[in-house]
Amino acid sequence: MIHLGIEEFIALPESEQVPYIGENAVIYAQQFDRNNLEYLCRLSDVARKIHKIEKGADFLKQLLRHRLVLNFFIQPSSRTFLSFNAAETILGMSRMSVRDAKISSISKGETLSDSLRTFLSYVDLVVMRHPEDISCSIAYWISAMASRRLNINGENRPIPIVSGGAGKAQHPTQALLDIYTLQKSFENVGGIDGKTIMLVGDLKRGRTVRSLSYLMKNFNDVKLLFCAPNEYKMSQDIIDFIDKNDNISYENVDSISDAITEVDAIYMTRIQDEHDKLTHDLGHVKAENKYVFRMEHLKQMKKEAYLLHPLPKRDEIEEAIDFANDPRVVYWRQERNGMWMRVAIIAKLFGVGDQILDF
Ligand code: NCD
Repeated sequence: MIHLGIEEFIALPESEQVPYIGENAVIYAQQFDRNNLEYLCRLSDVARKIHKIEKGADFLKQLLRHRLVLNFFIQPSSRTFLSFNAAETILGMSRMSVRDAKISSISKGETLSDSLRTFLSYVDLVVMRHPEDISCSIAYWISAMASRRLNINGENRPIPIVSGGAGKAQHPTQALLDIYTLQKSFENVGGIDGKTIMLVGDLKRGRTVRSLSYLMKNFNDVKLLFCAPNEYKMSQDIIDFIDKNDNISYENVDSISDAITEVDAIYMTRIQDEHDKLTHDLGHVKAENKYVFRMEHLKQMKKEAYLLHPLPKRDEIEEAIDFANDPRVVYWRQERNGMWMRVAIIAKLFGVGDQILDF
């Protein structure tokens, strides 16, 4: 139960909603501390390993076979939608999806709250992607106040909500899989602590870089380099968050070339031009030369540095990079890591994580 009305709840800053959410849902990156991150990464690794043998795959498949999930994705999605579906299948869940607002009652004028109340009557988990920044926060409030509860390891819990991307605000599960990818990449060089990570592209409207910046508070001495055109600079709320956290720092850099030799990871993003209604009709906005990752950058990168991208990518990465067969290019691995991280996220929400670790 939340002793606040919906208007009051969604008006709270994200950090003040976090204590109400606890471990019942995945809405904001600020919900995760270092222990949670380490647990989820370990769980992803173990699930991936035991799934390779038939007995292990069968074991995973019976863990949540009594649970039904709705994947409610009314914004475009390939990876997040598919990897959640794959993760749910690995855990034996039954799945349904709503992907098109036009053929749901949303097109008849039903509010998001009413749609969610309906979903919560039928399913045991809602994974959602929605164009509104506050959509997942609304969904959490509705679920926390609904009478239907799940018995999870003897506790009465609200139906979990997992954000698969909320407007321009956050994409916490992407950031979790990014951390998993970074952690695996830096396995032999001391992990994420002390690393310099450059974030490039549309930092203003990219929800992945916002969530990732929040997660970085869990590591020591991480330096973020923000590399974005003026109109797409990182928003002030993230800058304020970094300023308040002694263990992370940031710097603005003017181009990829300016810092490529000193970074341990570079995280590219595309221009989120679906938010530019006017230019959208004229085709996609092109990335400016200074913000395009090219072969010359790959050559200049440290031996132990890695190139990430949440995908989908466009012209911000030169096509030849995909054919360079360079182990430092990890965005395709990042995709697969995402499926295992989503197995871990769902398993933890339903309290079966320890069973996987004990297998
Ligand atoms: C991202 C998203 O939807 O925010 N995609 C994803 O989930 N991997 C990034 C993007 O669309 O640019």
